[in-house]
Amino acid sequence: MKELNIMEATVLTSPNPLTLICSKKEDGSTNLAPICFVSYLSFNPPMVGFATGKQSHTGKRVRETGKVIVTVPGESLAGTVMACGASTGAETDKVAANNIEMMAVEGSDIQIPADTRLAMVA
Ligand SMILES: Cc1cc2nc3c(=O)[nH]c(=O)nc-3n(C[C@H](O)[C@H](O)[C@H](O)COP(=O)(O)O)c2cc1C
Repeated sequence: MKELNIMEATVLTSPNPLTLICSKKEDGSTNLAPICFVSYLSFNPPMVGFATGKQSHTGKRVRETGKVIVTVPGESLAGTVMACGASTGAETDKVAANNIEMMAVEGSDIQIPADTRLAMVA
């Protein structure tokens, strides 16, 4: 059997689901980051996990607040999602910069994009 490195392994397990992770910034607004290192971890209890790089503002804020909404974006956000991956919420208000319509979610104080297919509040 041929030995593969982890990058080569991803070719055989792709595509990954693409989520738009919504977290709360210091000023209360929402930060958005596309994350594809995401997986269901357990049905009972329901658990979902994702991995962010050390520099990610999303990771920092989720650790600090203990709150996050994992969303699956609607089709109209395809370009916007990619744009959100090109800047950091530490320096940019991505919602304003990309003119994204937001909406409230029951049970959370984090807003999410209005065009969202699925929202998992944690
Ligand atoms: C399609 C796509 C998938 C991505 N998946 C991940 C990922 O799984 N983990 C990660 O740390 N960054 C991932 N990124 C990069 C982050 O979205 C990017 O570093 C972003 O600027 C982080 O924003 P933040 O600093 O506001 O959290 C992905 C980017 C794109 C465009």
